Amino acid sequence: MKKQIEQIKSVAEKEIKKAQNSQAIENLRIKYLGRKGKLTQVIKKISQIPKGKGQRREMGILLNEAKKKIQLAIAKQNQIIKRKKKNKNTWIDTTAPGQLPPIGHFHPITLAFREIWPLFERLGFTLVSYPEIEWEWFAFEALNMPTGHPARDDFETFFLDVKPHSKLGEMVLTPHTSSGQIREMRRINPPVRMINIAKCYRLNWDNTHTPMFHQFEGLVIDKNINLTHLKGIFEYFTKNFYGPERKIRLRPFHFQFTEPSFEVDIDCPICHGRGCRVCKSGWHELGGAGMIHPQVLKNGGIDPKKYSGFAFGWGVERTYMMKSGLKLNDIRILYENDLRFVEQF
Ligand code: DAH
Repeated sequence: MKKQIEQIKSVAEKEIKKAQNSQAIENLRIKYLGRKGKLTQVIKKISQIPKGKGQRREMGILLNEAKKKIQLAIAKQNQIIKRKKKNKNTWIDTTAPGQLPPIGHFHPITLAFREIWPLFERLGFTLVSYPEIEWEWFAFEALNMPTGHPARDDFETFFLDVKPHSKLGEMVLTPHTSSGQIREMRRINPPVRMINIAKCYRLNWDNTHTPMFHQFEGLVIDKNINLTHLKGIFEYFTKNFYGPERKIRLRPFHFQFTEPSFEVDIDCPICHGRGCRVCKSGWHELGGAGMIHPQVLKNGGIDPKKYSGFAFGWGVERTYMMKSGLKLNDIRILYENDLRFVEQF
């Protein structure tokens, strides 16, 4: 009898586990626990066991346990089926508008970079990148600014506390992208068409200066390069970057490393060159430019009798701000990471 009970129980449990709906479970309940059920029939036989030897009691306990186990299996399986049904009925409206996660965008200076660079790429310029930590020689001497030259004062340079090089001098944080000119001349032979967009550092902190800022430097060297090429490139850049209605002008200036030298101005987007409260003169300065000084070509290892070229170096921050006519009364806001400002770009 013991064996019989054990067998009924285990078969019942197996069958219940396989049941796929509540009707099938109910049928199994009847099969085992119903009035004529398999286990019920064994229960009925218990009265046939002679009293007194404790056998009846033992069987009683076993039967009770088996019954409970089968009931438990039924309850479990019912729950599993219920859960499956519920999952099937969970309804998702795929046409409902989703919830967008907050989406960021690039910093205005990165945006500027991404707009400036392709315009030069289209003309066959190569984008290069040179060290931000540089020897004085590349940053100054090679550009006709020897130690003690007053022009060097304008650069308010950060010096690094490292052992100076016997020929190249001290190490500095690049105060302008022009140091890349010499490196590029030494890297490749003409024709050279370089664009170098990089961070620059000068010891300045006021509403028109940040100690770190960006410049983009252009360098073109080939046979018979003259001023008209320089002007042509600027016209092209201005029309494409600012729009066909904007104008630039070259204003004679002096830089050590170019001769002749110019400052490049763009007409004020607000008053279009007439003069207003923002620009005062009608024009905004973008940066410097000029024909490369023969000595600078020599310093770069290029024969000035064979080749000529032009260079320009403009501030990225300023160039980008002039697009919208945005004249920040404090440019430090660019690097304060205040979302209320950067989200406007
Ligand atoms: N390096 C100069 C500066 O930071 C800007 C400049 C002027 C770059 C004339 C040039 C140039 O390439 O030809 O003030």
